[in-house]
Order: sequence, then structure tokens, then C-alpha cells
Amino acid sequence: MTKGIILAGGLGSRLYPITWAVSKQLLPVFDKPLIYYPLTTLMLAGVREILIISTPLHLPLYRHLLGDGRRWGLSLHYAEQAEPKGLAQAFVIGESFVAGEPCALALGDNVFYGAGLTAQLERAASVRDGAVIFAYPVADARAFGVVEVDRTGRALSIEEKPAAPKSDLAVTGLYFYDRDVVEIAKAVEPSPRGEVEITSVNAHYLERGKLQVEVLPRGTAWLDTGTVEAMHEASAFVRAIEHRQGLKIACPEEVAWRRGYISTDELLAIAGGLKNEYGDYLRRLTTAIGH
Ligand code: DAU
Repeated sequence: MTKGIILAGGLGSRLYPITWAVSKQLLPVFDKPLIYYPLTTLMLAGVREILIISTPLHLPLYRHLLGDGRRWGLSLHYAEQAEPKGLAQAFVIGESFVAGEPCALALGDNVFYGAGLTAQLERAASVRDGAVIFAYPVADARAFGVVEVDRTGRALSIEEKPAAPKSDLAVTGLYFYDRDVVEIAKAVEPSPRGEVEITSVNAHYLERGKLQVEVLPRGTAWLDTGTVEAMHEASAFVRAIEHRQGLKIACPEEVAWRRGYISTDELLAIAGGLKNEYGDYLRRLTTAIGH
């Protein structure tokens, strides 16, 4: 069974002063904490055993928010990253958690939404040999990892924040790896900016012809939360969809219930503790028709 890691550390310096005292991935995106979004993305991929990595300062807050995960039918674990030394460090810190199994990595600040996503995620989580990454066309790719693919979707090159991108395909913060990932991550040398880059791990798979690129289709949203403006836009996006459809995006209780991880009684017990719109929503789910 594929495991998962959510990386929710870093300084959040682009959001100062907001993130001087609060972890970025705990900030609200409309009606829920940012980390609920990557968490439910992993749940939709069928990943139920998840390691949350954050700073020594903030890790207790994540434990407080998410607990052991049992109420959502998950098994959640926690580990500290003393300093933000790069995304690939997740697999070094998580070595004993991963324990030689395939493992996904989700960045705690990436939001995905769209039709067909669940099937795409489940496919990625079933890969046992190689790596699967998700790419998304953007207007300016220079701020991201950039992947170049040929007509058949085979990866040709991958670079971290290139000054002259070879394509408009940004590499999103969601990665699925086979059981070799920990050894590969351990061998990565720090880049000129002093970080062990996840792009180096992906380049390793690419060199061996084992990097699969899933380009997210037009109807999918991959939202950035890197700046105050982007956070605001992500909230506005979630609000617009939720108001229009009356359905929530990234509601862990709903995903757990729909996937059969928790029973209707368990869902209603959670709803009982929430005397607000969120609780009303959970209650409504059990009586709604369709969807
Ligand atoms: O969002 C997708 C992009 O994420 C990819 O296109 C890039 O290839 C990848 O390197 C990464 O780029 P960023 O510049 O966005 O990474 P950033 O350093 O901002 O880190 C992403 C999140 O991970 C952020 O919320 C902080 C957290 N983080 C980061 C580092 C370096 C950690 O928890 N620990 C770390 O050591």
C-alpha cells in the first residue's frame, strides 16, 4: 500500500508578517486549514498512512489539529524537520516511516481540484516501478520545477526554476515514487541554493527512463498559495465553487465517509461536535440524494 508524506515546514517568509507566529499550512483557505487540501488529495489517491513533517515549533499544532487520524479512518504520524533544507529531505526524515514501501509526497501548500482527478491519482498510487509527477501549464514557469515532454508524454528534461524554461509545464507539488525513493533521496547533493531538491530525485528517475508525467487537463485547478494574493485567490476560488454547488472541496470527513473509511454514525458524531455551517454540511451529506 502506498504511503504518503505531507511536508508542512518551511519559514513561509513570503507571507511575513502573517507567518511569524502561525504555520503557513494552517492558514485558512476559505473555510478550512490549507493542509486539509493536500491531505484530502492523498486520501483521494487511496493513501491512508501519512507522515506529517513540520518545524519543531509548529509540529504540536498539527498534532492538535489532526491527531492520530483515526476519526477519518487514517493513520497519521509526525516528524520534525529542524531546518528547511529541501523537499527531498522528507524521505530522509521519513525513512523508518516509509520502511521500503512506495511513497507519495504532497507539499502542504498545494491545492488541487477538478473532474477526473481521483482516477488519475489512484492510477499514480498504483505504480510500483518508477515515479509519477503531475505537470500543469502555466503562463510563466520560471518560478517552478519545469518538465519538458515529447508527444507521447515521455519526459525529456526536468529543471528547477530555470531562467529560460524549455516548456510551460510546471511540476506540481505532488509526487508518487516506488520503493527506491529513500535511497535516491539520501544520495542527492545540495543544489547551489543549499537545498536537497526534489527535482534532483525526479531527474534520477528520468535518467533511468522511469519518470512518468501526468499533464493535468484544462478542467483541473492547481492553485498556488505562495503569496498573500495567491492565498486570497485560492480562498475566492473555493468559496465560488462551494457556494455554487453546495459541495465542499477538500472536506476530510466527507472523503473518509464517501470512501467507506468511516461509517455514517461516525460522520454524524463528528458533525455533532460542530455547531456551525461545517457541521450542518456533514449532517446534510447523510440525507442528500445523488453525488
Ligand atoms: O509548488 C510546486 C513547486 O514546489 C515545484 O514546482 C518546485 O519544483 C519545487 O521545488 C517547489 O518549489 P517552491 O519554491 O514552491 O518550494 P518551497 O521552497 O516554497 O517549498 C514548498 C513548500 O514546502 C513550502 O510550503 C515550504 C515547504 N518546505 C520547503 C522546504 C524547502 C518544507 O516544509 N521544508 C523544506 O525544507
